[in-house]
Order: sequence, then C-alpha cells, then structure tokens
Amino acid sequence: MAVAQTASTTVPNDLEAHWMPFTANRAFKSRPRLVARAKDMHYYTPEGRPILDGAAALWCTNAGHNREPIVAAIQKQAAEMDFAPSFQFSHPRAFEVASRIAALAPGDLDHVFFCNSGSEACDTALKIALAYHNVRGEGTRTRLIGRERGYHGVGFGGISVGGIVNNRKFFGSLLTGVDHLPHTYNREQQAFTKGEPEWGAHLADDLERIVALHDASTIAAVIVEPMAGSTGVLPAPKGYLQRLRAICDKYGILLILDEVITGFGRLGHAFAAERYGIVPDLITFAKGVTSGAVPMGGVIVRKGIHDAFMKGPEHMVELFHGYTYSAHPLACVAALAALDLYRDENLFARAKKLEPLWADAVMSLKGLPRVLDIRTVGLTAGIDLASRPDAYGKRGYEAMERGFHDEGIMFRVVGDTLALTPPLIVSEAQIGEIFEKVTRIIKAVN
Ligand SMILES: Cc1ncc(COP(=O)(O)O)c(C=O)c1O
Repeated sequence: MAVAQTASTTVPNDLEAHWMPFTANRAFKSRPRLVARAKDMHYYTPEGRPILDGAAALWCTNAGHNREPIVAAIQKQAAEMDFAPSFQFSHPRAFEVASRIAALAPGDLDHVFFCNSGSEACDTALKIALAYHNVRGEGTRTRLIGRERGYHGVGFGGISVGGIVNNRKFFGSLLTGVDHLPHTYNREQQAFTKGEPEWGAHLADDLERIVALHDASTIAAVIVEPMAGSTGVLPAPKGYLQRLRAICDKYGILLILDEVITGFGRLGHAFAAERYGIVPDLITFAKGVTSGAVPMGGVIVRKGIHDAFMKGPEHMVELFHGYTYSAHPLACVAALAALDLYRDENLFARAKKLEPLWADAVMSLKGLPRVLDIRTVGLTAGIDLASRPDAYGKRGYEAMERGFHDEGIMFRVVGDTLALTPPLIVSEAQIGEIFEKVTRIIKAVN
C-alpha cells in the first residue's frame, strides 16, 4: 500500500516508471540517452543534437529512418483501417506482403506465417517444426538443437535453444529436450578475419555427435543464425552452413535459419541463405522487414512443410498458433513500402558493394590500444576491446556513453564488444565518419 501511495507516476516525464528492457536502468536514468526525432542516417536528441546511427537502431532501420514512402503508407493506412482480425478474417495487404516476402526467399520457401517480433518468429518456427513432424506421424521428433552463444529472442523457446548464459540462467529449467552445438568462434584461429573465417566448418560435424547420442528419430530441428549478431558479430566459418544443411538432410532434421537480423540486406542479399547457397527449411525474419517502422516478424516455410498441414476437414483450423496482431495492417503497409524502397534503391546490392570498403575501414582500427579482435561480414562489425580487470563490460559501457554524449554516434555494445551495423543507405563519407568517431572513442576509454 505504502508503495502505491508514494509511487511517482503522476510526475510528467519522470523516468522512474519505465522499466527499460535489456538496459542498465540505474546507469541510464542517472545519465539518459534520449532521442526524439530521426531522419535517414541520424537521430536527434530532444535538444536537437544529431546522433549518427551506426547500429540501424537495433539492426532494424535498414532503409534509414523516417523514409517518406513508409511514413506516408502508415499514415494512409491508419486513416483507412486501423486493425483487422487475423484469425478467420484478414485484409488484402496481408496476402500482398506475404507474396512479396516469399518471392525474395530462396528455393521453395513460399508460405509466410506472420507475428510481431523476432522472438515470436523463433518460437513460431520451433512450434511449426514440432507440429510438422507430428502431423506427418513422426511425433517422436521432439528435440530442438540450438547453438552456444546463439540468440533467438526472449521467449521460452528462444532462450532454451539460445546460448547466451545471462538470458538463460535466471529463468528456470527452460524447455526440456534441447541440446546445443558448439559456437564457432576461436580467436586464435580467426582473429582479424574479413568475412567468413577459413577455420571452423568442422564444428558443424558436432551435429553428428548429437545425433549419435539422441538418435535422429528424436530430433525435430536445428536453429542457428547465419551470423551470430547479439553475441558480438560472429560470422559463419566458410562451408559451415553448407555442412550443417547436409547433415540435417541426412537425418531428416529441419534446418531453421534465424534471419531476424541478417534478413533484408544486412549481408548483401535479401536473405543470408542466398549468400551461402543453402535452402533452409524455415527462415525467421523481423526488424528490417518494415525497416523498423512498425513491429512485424514472421516465418517463411518450404512448400512441403506448409502442405503437410493442409489436410483433414476443411472447416478446421490447421495450425493452432497465431497472434492477435499477426499481419497488422500498419505493419503490412510499412513492410510493402520498405520492400519497395529496398527494390527501387537496390539496397541489398548496395550493402554488397560497400562490404569491401566497410571491411577495410573497420580493419583500420586493428592496432589501436586494447583492440583484441575485429570481425566483419556484410555491413556488420564486432570490435572486441580488452575488459578491465574485475570490470567486465565497463569499458564497453563507457564507449557507448562517450559515443552518444561526446561523439554523437549510436552503436551497440555487448560486454566490451562494440557492434556496428549501420542502415544500408550509409554513404562512403559516413562510413569514414563512423570509424573516425569510433577510433577517438577507443583511444579515450583507457
Ligand atoms: C537472431 C535474432 N533472433 C531473434 C531476435 C529477437 O527479436 P525481437 O527482439 O524482435 O524479439 C533477435 C534480436 O536481436 C535476433 O538478433
């Protein structure tokens, strides 16, 4: 009661009530990093100070911020029809955007199931994989295989197959029947590699060990990111994903590629599957699909997976899964406008063309004090700084603060690793500007 009476929720703009996600709340609230407006490559603080967006916000705004066609599409749709139910009813835009996304997907991935975030996409993909085996009469296939250091969002499915210790250890026993492949990072073998490291394809063979332990008849699916982003940018070793695909094929295990951050151009293709020449069974996506403007996520599945469900009485629901806001009208029009921009401005090809220049720019930081490794693939970069003894993450945090307050740049930090992933519209001059700022920051956080 006393708590309720003293709660300070009536104070306008009090920072207290908002419990921020994945944030050091006390540190943030003592020195907030607030943005109030955005356009193209920049945010602007409430005072109007520009902040160069070196992170596409959260790997989202691939087409840049507040692009006119996306803004206009959302405004028009909001005035026309705010919401439509997604169970048993729908609206034309949902089908249009599904067709557009399916057309970008590799191979015979031709059906799209919508949700609202990457976490929902991952849990949806895991559920579809389990249910698929079930409807085909292979209900013993219940095990899910993830990978150490993997990030598949924060749902119970995602954290179970994920491999980020802090995202798992506080939350009980998670899903049962989950196993993990080893992560693919080895600094001794891979340090300062541009693109996919030569070393590490053999780590996919660990799936053979897992199959030998549990038997293929108990394994439903493997889920991995083509480039492990949230753990600090770990590009897939050369040949790794192809090898994983081959082993999955050998044992009838579904391969789920989590493309929540690699989808829509980050690695120079609509989906990273194309870069690696593989056809996964399911692809998860979110973020870039609307260039971050409205929440949307989804799962693209192969024709055979979808078709396996299309049996039984026609008036009956085929998959008992979905979200109230699946294919929300505002998300659908934002996605259509974003996909138009990606196409009209050739933004995926642009990312590919910029990749060598970007890689050279980031590798120029090699040799700066405390830089232990740099990784890069597509328009991504992970820069490992040495941790201070007994203060893991402090140097990274200070780099982020200094970036925002002193240098006017936004990037992500994971512990003491800086992650840079700009919108795909970044200019060559802005790439130069990003790394000038980052160089000054690295030198300063001694
Ligand atoms: C590979 C991957 N999967 C899933 C997610 C979760 O997405 P969301 O935060 O939209 O739930 C993320 C978020 O960064 C991600 O990087």
